[in-house]
Amino acid sequence: MILWTIFGYLLGAVPFGIVVTKAMGLGDLRAIGSGNIGATNVLRTGNKTAALATLLLDSGKGAIAVLLARQFGGETAGLLAGGAAFLGHCFPVWLGFKGGKGMATFLGTLAALHWPLGLIACAVWALVAAVARISSLSALIAAALTPVLAWGLGRPDIAAVTAFMAALIFIRHHANIRRLLSGTEPRIGQK
Ligand code: G3P
Repeated sequence: MILWTIFGYLLGAVPFGIVVTKAMGLGDLRAIGSGNIGATNVLRTGNKTAALATLLLDSGKGAIAVLLARQFGGETAGLLAGGAAFLGHCFPVWLGFKGGKGMATFLGTLAALHWPLGLIACAVWALVAAVARISSLSALIAAALTPVLAWGLGRPDIAAVTAFMAALIFIRHHANIRRLLSGTEPRIGQK
């Protein structure tokens, strides 16, 4: 169990936003836009392919951590590896524990834990993004709804893990929340 948790953490700690932007010669992601290492900020480089690749890799690492751990270690190992991958993304050892805000890894982890819930969370994210065009607002609403839905679907284990992740997502978005409240949060694609 402990080995799957460590595996999840180390995989989640790979900062794909930085890897992708470096590999594509797009500059220092930490010096662009919000300075975050996620796909929303990669999009501010103006390169949509890099943003999409970051989104898929950051969500994929959460999904792979869960799927491998569950396949070879059982249901609890899957939950622990998913939670650890999310923590790895937010606090990566490779970046001095200064990582991302966790939303893509949250969605990938969730999709692997319970695909209907993952689908609903992605749909909520996309719907809010389509209406408001603000990535952080989409993330906060989708994250807050997930544990409630998991509980409603009779999965208290997933509700507990996602409640913990949602709380951390809110903490990691503290600067975004301040900007949302003051009406200065940039729309998707804006610098
Ligand atoms: O998932 C991250 C997103 O919600 C906010 O990103 O770069 O606008 O702070 P950013």
